Amino acid sequence: MSTTNKEMTPLFTRFSSERLTIKNRTVMAPMTRGFSPNGVPGADVRTYYKRRAENNVGLIITEGTGIDHPASISGDTIPLFYGEKPLEGWKEVVKAVHEAGGKIVPQLWHVGMARNIGDVPNKDALPIGPSGLDFSGSKVTESMTEQDIHDVIEAFAKAAADAKRIGFDGIELHGAHGYLIDQFFWQQTNQRSDRYGGDLVSRTRFAQEIIAACRKAAGDDFPIIFRFSQWKMSDYKAKLAETPQELERFLKPLHEAGVDIFHCSTRRFWEPEFEGSDLNLAGWTKKLTGKPVISVGSVGLDGVFTSYDEAGTASLDGLLTKLETDEFDLAAIGRALLHDPAWVEKVRTGRTDELEAFQKDSLHQLY
Ligand SMILES: Cc1cc2nc3c(=O)[nH]c(=O)nc-3n(C[C@H](O)[C@H](O)[C@H](O)COP(=O)(O)O)c2cc1C
Repeated sequence: MSTTNKEMTPLFTRFSSERLTIKNRTVMAPMTRGFSPNGVPGADVRTYYKRRAENNVGLIITEGTGIDHPASISGDTIPLFYGEKPLEGWKEVVKAVHEAGGKIVPQLWHVGMARNIGDVPNKDALPIGPSGLDFSGSKVTESMTEQDIHDVIEAFAKAAADAKRIGFDGIELHGAHGYLIDQFFWQQTNQRSDRYGGDLVSRTRFAQEIIAACRKAAGDDFPIIFRFSQWKMSDYKAKLAETPQELERFLKPLHEAGVDIFHCSTRRFWEPEFEGSDLNLAGWTKKLTGKPVISVGSVGLDGVFTSYDEAGTASLDGLLTKLETDEFDLAAIGRALLHDPAWVEKVRTGRTDELEAFQKDSLHQLY
């Protein structure tokens, strides 16, 4: 293997944590692609992930995949994480990535109220959410019952067990961006008066029970990554935690429930999260929990998610400094890697002049 460019060393040291080791600090961010007809990832999806592993991505987090609940996703090209054919497809993806020397975890997803009535693949399944409220606060469906909550927790746990059975290296729970788990965190969408609602800490109970159920189903050695965000698809300026103290109260129960790695989703990784410190959301999360963290948001690009417009390339100096000072442990790369499967290998070997701008047309094919 050609040598690693010296300047890039902070991105290419080994990562080691209690349940997961990764050959370097690069992570492919989860990105929904919609190339899995009837929910089954096929040969093109397999090659897409394999190409990233061949080009030295340390850990791949798959696109969001629907857990075994009728209303978990909307769209019939979004991959599923249940049923014989989808799981067989995923098993082949895992095999291909492992053969290429990479590691891979599935992102387990339930969209909750971010689903319209009548959406495929299960047109009759009504959207579910803690209080049946959409993001504008309108009542769309009834609040989830205790049985609904139980069913969803069981579906996440079953997915965790299946992930382990078919060879994945761990799981990522999608607790970010305003989808179901996040709808429980967020007061606007969670107005329950039972034990799943209430203050910020009580609103983490649903997530805590999912994490604990996944741990029980997949065993003590299986890594659990938890993705969360302050921002929502419906509101980029939203904040779950206004202060470090609030963030600590939010994270502690999740940490205690069994999270191994927090994936702190921001749109620009260099932005300080709270006044008075340069630490970003991942930096604060690491400081407050002592757990390893993944940072994300416009790595290598000068335009922010989610405009999907073209974004030019940007210097990696700021990222390297933050890794070097241990502000965070791992860096997830989204659009840059969607566009260019060789992004990590080009960076590793110092070929930064070969990095390309992100084109929105890249969304229409699987490079
Ligand atoms: C096409 C596309 C699909 C995405 N789908 C998901 C998803 O399924 N789950 C998720 O947590 N984030 C998703 N994201 C957000 C990315 O994981 C990432 O956080 C975001 O793109 C910021 O990183 P970047 O600036 O490096 O692109 C998606 C982003 C893009 C561009």
